[in-house]
Amino acid sequence: MSEYNQDRLTQDVVDSVANTPEPRLRELMTALVKHIHAYAREVDLTPEEWLAGLKFLNATGQISTEKRPEFILLSDTLGLSMMVVSLAQARASGTAKGATEATEATVEGPFYWPGAPDLPLGTDIGAGVPGEPTYYTGRVTDVDGRPLAGALLDVWSGDGNGKYDVQLSAEPTMKARGRFRTDAEGGYRFWSIRPAYYPIPDDGPVGEMLRATDRSIYRPGHIHMQVSAPGHVMLTTHVFVAGSPYIDNDAVFGKRDSLVVDFATHPPGKAADGRELRVPYHSASFDFRLAPVPA
Ligand code: BEZ
Ligand code: FE
Repeated sequence: MSEYNQDRLTQDVVDSVANTPEPRLRELMTALVKHIHAYAREVDLTPEEWLAGLKFLNATGQISTEKRPEFILLSDTLGLSMMVVSLAQARASGTAKGATEATEATVEGPFYWPGAPDLPLGTDIGAGVPGEPTYYTGRVTDVDGRPLAGALLDVWSGDGNGKYDVQLSAEPTMKARGRFRTDAEGGYRFWSIRPAYYPIPDDGPVGEMLRATDRSIYRPGHIHMQVSAPGHVMLTTHVFVAGSPYIDNDAVFGKRDSLVVDFATHPPGKAADGRELRVPYHSASFDFRLAPVPA
C-alpha cells in the first residue's frame, strides 16, 4: 500500500467515528485509531506479529476472573495504571498547589478488600501474621499542614513472607487490614508487620511478557494506605520500605521516592507506646497531606 493509501486508511477510520454522539468517546476513539495506526507503521508490523499480539490479548482475557484481573496486571506492568493515577491526582487536585503539595498517589493493586474492621488507634493488625512487628505512626494534614482530625486510614499489606491474606487460602479471612480514625491532632498509630517484597502473579500471559522482556516480576515491600477526609481528595498510596529488594525496580512502576520511609530497627524492650516487645521490632513514621477538593 502506498504512503498515500496508508494515510487515507487512517483518515477513513477516524472519519468513521466522527459522528459518535458522546464527545469524550469520540475523542478517545479518534486518538486510539490514530495511535494504533501510527504504532503499526512505526514498527512496520507484520501479519505474524499482529496475530501473536491478538493471541496474547486473547489469552489475557481467557485467564481473567474477578480475582485474577490479568488486563489490570497488563496495564500495571506497562506503566499505564501509574500514568492514569498520576493524571487523576493532578486533575483532582486542581490547583498546581494541590498537585505538588499533596502526598503522591500510587496504584491500588488487586488486593484491596473493602470492609476492613474499624479499630482503635494503637491496635496491632499484625497479630498472628508472619513478619517483624512494626509500629506505624504519623499525621494526616491538609496541604498547609493543618491537622485533619477524624480522617480515615484504610490500611492493608502482605505479610513478612510476601503473601496477602487473599492468597493464602480459597476462603481467606482478613489479615493485616484495618481502618483507623485520626485523633484531634490528625495523628494515627497502629502496629502491624514490616511487609516483604513479593512477586506479582506471573503464571499467565503477563508473566510470559515480563520474562520475554527480561523484566523483574517483583514489587518492593510496601504497606497500602487509602486516606480520606471530608472536603479532601481521597488518596490511595503506599509507604515503601527503604532498602527493600526491588525498591528501584518495581514491576508496576508504583514506587515514588517521596513514599520511601526508613524502618528504624529497635532491640527488644519498651516501645514508644509502652508496649513491651520480646523480639526486635521496627518503627516507621509517615505524614499524609491531602489536597482540597477543587471548588
Ligand atoms: C499490589 O501492590 O498489591 C499490586 C499492585 C499491582 C499489581 C499487583 C500487586
Ligand atoms: Fe501490594
